[in-house]
Amino acid sequence: MTALLDVAGVTVRFGGLTALSDVTFNVQSGEIVGLIGPNGAGKTTLFNSLAGLTRPTEGRIVFGGAQMKGLRPHRIARHGMTKTFQNTALFPGMSLRDNVVIGALCRASLKDARGIADECLAKVGLLKDADSDVDDLTFPQKALGEVARALATGPKLVLLDEVMAALTPTEMTAIMASLRALRDRDGITLMIVEHHMRAIMELSERILVLNFGKLIANGTPQQVSADPQVIAAYLGSSHAAH
Ligand SMILES: Nc1ncnc2c1ncn2[C@@H]1O[C@H](COP(=O)(O)OP(=O)(O)OP(=O)(O)O)[C@@H](O)[C@H]1O
Ligand SMILES: [Mg+2]
Repeated sequence: MTALLDVAGVTVRFGGLTALSDVTFNVQSGEIVGLIGPNGAGKTTLFNSLAGLTRPTEGRIVFGGAQMKGLRPHRIARHGMTKTFQNTALFPGMSLRDNVVIGALCRASLKDARGIADECLAKVGLLKDADSDVDDLTFPQKALGEVARALATGPKLVLLDEVMAALTPTEMTAIMASLRALRDRDGITLMIVEHHMRAIMELSERILVLNFGKLIANGTPQQVSADPQVIAAYLGSSHAAH
């Protein structure tokens, strides 16, 4: 089966720092793939490279059969790949709906964008909050608002960069259900960066592990959590005991 996303040999250098080194993997349509690794491992840099916010120094990124490397983010979003921002980047001083309308404008007229926005807010259970100013939203609402804005671009693949940071376990459970529904109900493929191990282990069917810019593991949650290299680099001995 042809992969939805095919990443080969992606290397990103920032001056003397190699943030990503020869990263190769693929994602099949309909998968939920976790991406984990210590702080500074290169997770956000990988997502930024995929979404067109950072241009890889080397490598190939093919999405839906088309080469993405070098395309601008809105062009990549039009192909169906989009990312959320770590530490949410909703535009302040605007309503939640208007934030999501901005996502929809990459593929729709202003007239249609409002309907799309409301549809996407409904998918994450936020339609009742559409008129709220984003500054008045709670953490989980902001996180889901980010997801709704990404959905408004009409994606096949959404890259979620720590949307569950700063949430309580109950809030996290609710968001995990919303994310699972996006795949099960809407057929959207997900890649998820998250430091919360419970969330990543429960949601992901496959997990990629980055350490110092290198992909050190690619397997099921069980395989990855039992991998000595992953335990040494990231999970630690307490996790290994479980
Ligand atoms: N624009 C940039 N210019 C220079 N260095 C950068 C830039 N962006 C990231 N880096 C560096 O690249 C490395 C990877 O950073 P990145 O933000 O991708 O890590 P991360 O895995 O997302 O970490 P975290 O879990 O803390 O979010 C780090 O050493 C970081 O300082
Ligand atoms: Mg990051």
